[in-house]
Amino acid sequence: MRVDIITCQPGLLSGPFSHSIVKRAIEKQQVAIHIHDLRSHGLGKHAQIDDYAYGGGAGMVLMVEPIVRCIEALQAARNYDKIIYMAPDGEKLTQSMANRLSLDQNLMLLCGHYKGVDERIREHFITHEVSIGEYVISGGELAAAIVVDAVVRLIPGVLSDASSALNDSFQDGLLEPPIYTRPASFRDLTVPTVLFTGNAQQIDEWKLTQSIARTRARAPHLLKIDEEEG
Ligand code: ADE
Repeated sequence: MRVDIITCQPGLLSGPFSHSIVKRAIEKQQVAIHIHDLRSHGLGKHAQIDDYAYGGGAGMVLMVEPIVRCIEALQAARNYDKIIYMAPDGEKLTQSMANRLSLDQNLMLLCGHYKGVDERIREHFITHEVSIGEYVISGGELAAAIVVDAVVRLIPGVLSDASSALNDSFQDGLLEPPIYTRPASFRDLTVPTVLFTGNAQQIDEWKLTQSIARTRARAPHLLKIDEEEG
């Protein structure tokens, strides 16, 4: 998979891909992530990329032309499965959306900043709009990093079989059960005794019961989807 991220704040994206699973996936060439500084497509000698909003109101708007220049330069080199704008009013990121995105070859992510992008970009150049939740952060960069992380871990081979994403919370419509490691007893805090029985079937049943109880308590909408579908 190849991911191109367009941003006016490239520094915000230098950290998230330099560690842990995404870093290893890049090293193993399972994903290539390219960050494009919108400023390099800016207009005039000041490389302008933003301007005041027509009709007034506080905050700057990212201009249409630098973004179109950047998008079209990328499109000249390859076809994109999706051109995604990160926006608080976009479609909410879910595990099933991440699953779908993980099947794509080329993704382009556009990060808004300040008041966002000129609406003509959203109407005519963007194919999908994605939100990481109903709150506003300062720009799309951290949201894009979250999308990339959620998607990259689903690319076959990125996680080992043992830690396969198939075991993740949400992947099978259930949250993960509680987990414990040594010591078996810390102060007066102990580990459920079933985990010491060595009885794999009993342990699996306990995990499933815990998963269902946890999902019912914390994310009951996941069970409702199952009940409606099944
Ligand atoms: N940009 C600002 N807030 C955002 C959000 N919640 N999701 C995606 N992009 C954003």
